[in-house]
Amino acid sequence: MSMQHAHVGLAGKTAILIGGAGGIGRAIALKLAEAGVNIASCDKDGDAAAAILPELEALGVAVLSVHADVCDAPALGAFLDQVEARFDCVDILVNVAGGTNRGTFVETSSPESDAAIIRLNYGYVLETVRRVVPLIRKGGAGGAIVNFTTIEAHRGAAGYAVYAGAKAAVTNFTRALAVELGKERIRVNIVAPDASPSVGYTRRKGAEEGRMAKFAALSPEARVGQAKMYMPQGEAPGIEDLANTVLFLVSDLSRCMTGQTLHVDGGTSASLGFIDWPFGDGYGPAPQPETLHRLFDHD
Ligand SMILES: NC(=O)c1ccc[n+]([C@@H]2O[C@H](COP(=O)([O-])OP(=O)(O)OC[C@H]3O[C@@H](n4cnc5c(N)ncnc54)[C@H](O)[C@@H]3O)[C@@H](O)[C@H]2O)c1
Repeated sequence: MSMQHAHVGLAGKTAILIGGAGGIGRAIALKLAEAGVNIASCDKDGDAAAAILPELEALGVAVLSVHADVCDAPALGAFLDQVEARFDCVDILVNVAGGTNRGTFVETSSPESDAAIIRLNYGYVLETVRRVVPLIRKGGAGGAIVNFTTIEAHRGAAGYAVYAGAKAAVTNFTRALAVELGKERIRVNIVAPDASPSVGYTRRKGAEEGRMAKFAALSPEARVGQAKMYMPQGEAPGIEDLANTVLFLVSDLSRCMTGQTLHVDGGTSASLGFIDWPFGDGYGPAPQPETLHRLFDHD
């Protein structure tokens, strides 16, 4: 069945998007609106929240686009009050907002930064689910919830410890919820990206000692070489690929799937630490002796 057919059955439904105005969230909002889904989005980027409103309305769906930070509990509550006042019931919830900065735990964390990361990646998800499931129940026809985690919830993610823990909590929360809500046909699934160039991803990486600028200064061969070494498919998925996966997960194409994680990562979770080393070494956890010699023996 084509993706076009997946649109059948989505027209006229209503989705709440948390972080739906920029980057990955924006790609999801546009994709769902193209399928005829009404959109209620909140985003901490006020300019993006204002800019997406006419774009979505031009697709012929009802739209609520609010400027709100999910880390601000009253602001999130007020957004959900607005959704309730505007729409009779809700069918879809997508919790996109999330993220962190890189830093080793002992050296860079504090109780305050821990709480902020846990809130942004796990805490608000509990709150939206608690508020939105009753709105989905009102429709009486089931529904779909999609949460966003990361490859870091599935490996020992040095430099991302608190984030990795919070996202792993989302993984098991999702599985438990999927079981609790199964008979009501409210499905709960996860999209787990690795390295897709969203606004947030590029900003965070760029902040790491100008890392993006250093990448941009490399030769094209070196840049392509990096992606080929790390990504089995040779390049990172784009935000469109993530949006297509969400479309699948909220449509009847996935009607018997719940509690699952879909890794949209170009194959990095499959390779699990195996790198396609250069100079003909091929895949493995470490390079061959000749490459080790090039890397470490500087005589
Ligand atoms: N981009 C990647 O490669 C990647 C990798 C692993 C996991 N993820 C996960 O995917 C999700 C989206 O990631 P992203 O940051 O790359 O996408 P993104 O930058 O596209 O962010 C999506 C939207 O969320 C909004 N947002 C961020 N924080 C918010 C907040 N506190 N309140 C309201 N809105 C907020 C942003 O303004 C943006 O419009 C996150 O949960 C992230 O952890 C992304």
